[in-house]
Amino acid sequence: PTIPVVTVDGPSGSGKGTISQILATKLGYHLLDSGALYRLTALAVIKNDIDINQVDKVAQAALDLDVVFDPQPDGEQKVLLNGEDVGVQLRLDETSAMASQVAAIPEVREALLIRQKQFRQKPGLVADGRDMGTVVFPDAEHKVFLTASPEIRAERRHKQLIEKGVDANISHLLKSIIDRDERDRTRTVAPLVPAEGAFVIDSSDLTIDEVVQQILDFIGFSE
Ligand code: C5P
Repeated sequence: PTIPVVTVDGPSGSGKGTISQILATKLGYHLLDSGALYRLTALAVIKNDIDINQVDKVAQAALDLDVVFDPQPDGEQKVLLNGEDVGVQLRLDETSAMASQVAAIPEVREALLIRQKQFRQKPGLVADGRDMGTVVFPDAEHKVFLTASPEIRAERRHKQLIEKGVDANISHLLKSIIDRDERDRTRTVAPLVPAEGAFVIDSSDLTIDEVVQQILDFIGFSE
């Protein structure tokens, strides 16, 4: 029998990350934060001073990632790159901007594909990203697409960064969210679109708990 996967796709700040963590904990499933893989590749590119135009080198950096995801009791994941905790670096604006650039390179996406599929392990997986339902796990039984207005997403990201002790400017965040959306939606490989049959939720006016409950109802899970 195939191992169950719940895909949660959507733009940054839609609440995907938090909601996927809660879902994975409630369901007792593993968690794939695929955005972290693109962010890690971006970080490797920045740290090793790789020219973004040298596609082969960027793809090789994606293949070579030495990364450990270490789930914490609170549902968060510690991320170690070459043994170094890069949790804060991954969320920096510079890393985010570079992540969406490396994500537009087909060779990078190809390099990360097998790694992502390997997260599908018993008893099941919650996969958070942009193309989880369309490209990486097209046979997933439950697909969710989460959206929210850009303004709400900028506010959420701002709060998240402040809580992590990272300085952030809200109008700058809004602009970078809009730019990133545009790149993610219009790129030729794995553009950000809802998978066929996906349950689409606009979370702008919903609490995290309300979104989680809607998804649990959708997949027919009762606590
Ligand atoms: O979800 P998160 O904001 O961490 O993702 C960082 C970047 O990685 C996004 O801007 C997007 O371009 C890219 N990404 C992607 N495909 C995924 C996950 C993330 O292209 N499945």
